[in-house]
Amino acid sequence: MQLKDRTILITGGTSGIGKELVAHLAPVNKTVIVIATNLVKLGELKSKYGNVVTYQCSLAKKLEVEETIGDIVERYKDLTVVVNNAGIQMTPMFHEKEFSFDSINTEVTVNLTAQIWISALALGHFLNLEAPAAYINVTSGLGLYPKKNSAVYCATKAGLLNFTRSFRYQLENTSIKVHAAILPLVDTPMTEGRGKGKISARKAASEIINGVEKGKDDIYVGKTKLMPTLSRISPTLMATVMKGA
Ligand SMILES: NC(=O)c1ccc[n+]([C@@H]2O[C@H](COP(=O)([O-])OP(=O)(O)OC[C@H]3O[C@@H](n4cnc5c(N)ncnc54)[C@H](OP(=O)(O)O)[C@@H]3O)[C@@H](O)[C@H]2O)c1
Repeated sequence: MQLKDRTILITGGTSGIGKELVAHLAPVNKTVIVIATNLVKLGELKSKYGNVVTYQCSLAKKLEVEETIGDIVERYKDLTVVVNNAGIQMTPMFHEKEFSFDSINTEVTVNLTAQIWISALALGHFLNLEAPAAYINVTSGLGLYPKKNSAVYCATKAGLLNFTRSFRYQLENTSIKVHAAILPLVDTPMTEGRGKGKISARKAASEIINGVEKGKDDIYVGKTKLMPTLSRISPTLMATVMKGA
């Protein structure tokens, strides 16, 4: 699918990879709808791009998600692409006191439950379209092999990847594509002050778009392209490398 002349929804379009997706897609598409929580950043996007529409909505809040997606599919009948990009990463280890039921619940809800629920809420609209449609779910190499800290984050990214593949099976006889973007370490506010060998958010966004336009189901970005081969050669080495990521 070509990502041109479309109406596209991007969650988390105010920062990092999402912001770069907006920068690539807004100039060549009809409308880009952005969901995030920070009103100032949403306002900046609207002022920068005449065709960006924004919704302040927290993916941690079920009612806000339902009202927002309901409004979007009602107003934007030509919506054909949903990019489930928003995410958070909390880094405490299990013995730290910041670790609680609430912190686990928020991270799972924003990174996984909301992404699945948004996919489900948009499905009726997509199935009624005569044109092809697509979901692009942004996950991570950490969904294939976890690192030591951020265990909940790794679990959500594994969950999102498996959800995406299963959902793809369910939709294989429709004209709806379900892509997973599998990202390496990317230089964004999420990874500020940690990690080496990061790629830029601009490069990550451009590889995601390229993968969608080439029709790839699982879009391996940057170094994650090596993961399927290295996993076959030595899954143990792969696991050791990723443990310290
Ligand atoms: N950076 C990496 O190395 C890396 C690697 C693999 C995968 N990823 C994935 O790539 C995606 C984007 O990450 P990033 O690095 O670009 O992160 P980022 O710069 O921190 O941006 C995260 C985005 O998510 C939005 N967001 C966070 N909580 C939200 C909530 N409760 N409701 C609605 N929106 C919310 C933020 O907007 P507000 O602050 O306005 O709410 C922001 O626009 C995430 O799914 C992440 O897991 C990143």
